[in-house]
Amino acid sequence: MNIYFDNAASTRIDPSVVDAMLPYLTEFYGNPSSVHKEGKYLKVLVEEARDNVAAFLGVKPKEIYFTSGGTEANNFAVKGLAFSNEDKSKNHLIVSAIEHPAVLDSFMYLKKFGYRISLAAPDRYGFVHPGEIEKLITPETLLVSVMHANNEVGSLNDVKAISALCKSRNIYFHSDTVQSVGKTDVKPKELGLDFMTLSAHKIYGPKGVGILFKDENVRIDKYIHGGGQERDMRGGTENVASVAGLSRAVGILRNTMENDLKHYRHITGIIRKGLTDTFGENVSFNTPEKNSVPNILNVTFNHEKLNVPEGLLPVKLDLKGISVSGGSACSSGSLKPSKVLLEIGLEERKAQSSVRISAGRFNTEEEAVKLISALKEILITN
Ligand SMILES: Cc1ncc(COP(=O)(O)O)c(C=O)c1O
Repeated sequence: MNIYFDNAASTRIDPSVVDAMLPYLTEFYGNPSSVHKEGKYLKVLVEEARDNVAAFLGVKPKEIYFTSGGTEANNFAVKGLAFSNEDKSKNHLIVSAIEHPAVLDSFMYLKKFGYRISLAAPDRYGFVHPGEIEKLITPETLLVSVMHANNEVGSLNDVKAISALCKSRNIYFHSDTVQSVGKTDVKPKELGLDFMTLSAHKIYGPKGVGILFKDENVRIDKYIHGGGQERDMRGGTENVASVAGLSRAVGILRNTMENDLKHYRHITGIIRKGLTDTFGENVSFNTPEKNSVPNILNVTFNHEKLNVPEGLLPVKLDLKGISVSGGSACSSGSLKPSKVLLEIGLEERKAQSSVRISAGRFNTEEEAVKLISALKEILITN
């Protein structure tokens, strides 16, 4: 396998998480809703997992809903609130322009139901400032959504200031915290969030499971109609093995987060310095040095001075055995420049000359050095 520097896309599952999941894929096969022993055992397991996640976030267990991941959790919050709103005068929503599609597209969908959407612009480093939100607020505003850490450039927004602004105007506030959990301390109550989301596969857990935190005082519509699971808000037999894996991943995080953060800083520090030493003024960083998550480094190489293949730098790195993400997204077979990079002001060619390097718990110093050498070979030697 490649040297893996794409941990913001997904992380390698921790072996101990697999151990925690296996019994629920083999010997414990009941349905948590059943009244017999097999069912009751699993029900207890799911509720213990909920307690564990709630304790980690400093919230009440009844404020946690298990979902199929970050995408569903974001859809659940945004659409659930919009659909439950009976005050027809509250028909305006504000969302940052650089949200993950799980949030942005959920908002756009709501146009169909009479909502007006305003997009809040980010600055050069992907920060969405409270002042930008304030300019857009109207008496009709129902909900504001601004992500905590941006998934492409890693900037960490001051969501506490934005939530305080929203509270003072009686507006609900949602924050996608998928990329910040495990990279900074995320306590929804301290940050003043009405909704936040988590995805297990970004924190060394399994794919296809996550949570929505919803403040107990906020009412939303149920998301999936079905058998009454998740306190009748999200139907469907619980994904017990994945919930057990999520709970273990969170448990590991409680013990390792301090070390993880040091490690991420160390590895991205080596890369930042290595790139600067190697490419000098021909490399620029889209990730701010301050107020960003420590694992993400988004960089643009000067295509006028270096041998930068348009949109294909990740492919070239892949051929050299290294995985990163690019400044382009593959959509319908063509490489389009990243919307986030365009929104923060990069021209198309610059966006296509960018890569996102994201470190993880399992990366080594040696791998960081190899990444720099590979980039040097591609961009300078050839
Ligand atoms: C900021 C952000 N939100 C939401 C998601 C979606 O999470 P999931 O893959 O669990 O659906 C991602 C995943 O890339 C993300 O980075």
